[in-house]
Amino acid sequence: MAEIRKVGVVGLGAMGAGIAQLCIEAGVDTVGREVSVELGEKARERIGHFLTRKVEKGQLEQGARDEAVGRLTLTTGLDAIAECDLVIEAIVEELEPKQELFAELDRICGPDAVLATNTSALSVTEIAAAASAPGRVVGMHFFNPAPLMPLVEIVRAELTDDGPFEAAFSFGERIGKSPIRCHDTPGFVVNRVLIPLLNDCIRVLDEARVTPEDLDTGLQNGAGWPMGPCTLVDLVGIDVHVHASEALYEKTREPRMAPPPRLVAMRNAGLLGRKSGRGFYSYD
Ligand code: CAA
Repeated sequence: MAEIRKVGVVGLGAMGAGIAQLCIEAGVDTVGREVSVELGEKARERIGHFLTRKVEKGQLEQGARDEAVGRLTLTTGLDAIAECDLVIEAIVEELEPKQELFAELDRICGPDAVLATNTSALSVTEIAAAASAPGRVVGMHFFNPAPLMPLVEIVRAELTDDGPFEAAFSFGERIGKSPIRCHDTPGFVVNRVLIPLLNDCIRVLDEARVTPEDLDTGLQNGAGWPMGPCTLVDLVGIDVHVHASEALYEKTREPRMAPPPRLVAMRNAGLLGRKSGRGFYSYD
């Protein structure tokens, strides 16, 4: 496989911006693509903010921060992405737009480029099927918040070739993660366990008539979780969690995968968690 000198990140929401931050901090030139200049600039500000916090806390030199920010270029088209050796997709969690994107990336990127999807609950194999060279498509599933969570799952789809698979694994290590290898099954490794577990937690709210605060305290103090389930679902986004649950339920038909009605109602009411300012808790 060719050396990865330049990375493209398509979609700069919370996950894409976090992934781009990891790349530039690791010294890799990165092209970030958003659909509008405004959304691209918003992501750059978010990344700049978190890197500034690291400087303020003595974890990063000011010069290194500025150099890292200088490695990020923004684009609204896909032309600049065509020059990248690795492209990581982090757009909306819908199969059709992802397939359209991978068909286009496959057409415009060089033959050695590795194409990765950060999907959390869709099938990497189905996304790869849109590419005429599915052997170079791999899953790179990061966890929220991407700059802080050490894991990235490197997901082998049915037709993924060894070279791109190992290149994605090595790149995960290069940006400071602890990658693990797995096959393309619904939810891969962590979400296969975490999504039904979080759904159980939400069902317990009603069954045990416990408050979100007490449930969070329970799991933190009784099971050693770093944050309670209600805080975590607020962080991930209630819409994102409901969507991932629906996708996994569709594939597995396991009742525990199905989103609890309480979460669906919250999503329908616009209570999306931290990003909307209100979920189980309120945020400024
Ligand atoms: N991006 C970049 N930097 C961030 C950030 C982000 N999104 N969020 C926070 N930071 C930085 C901040 O600068 C923060 O420092 P300040 O508050 O001083 O500015 C710094 O990180 C440290 O933050 P915390 O003090 O909050 O760190 P912590 O020690 O409390 O740990 C945590 C935070 C790592 C998130 C920890 O609480 C934890 O492990 N929580 C569990 C998270 C988890 O389970 N994630 C998986 C979700 S499931 C998923 O992602 C799968 C999916 O497909 C949806």
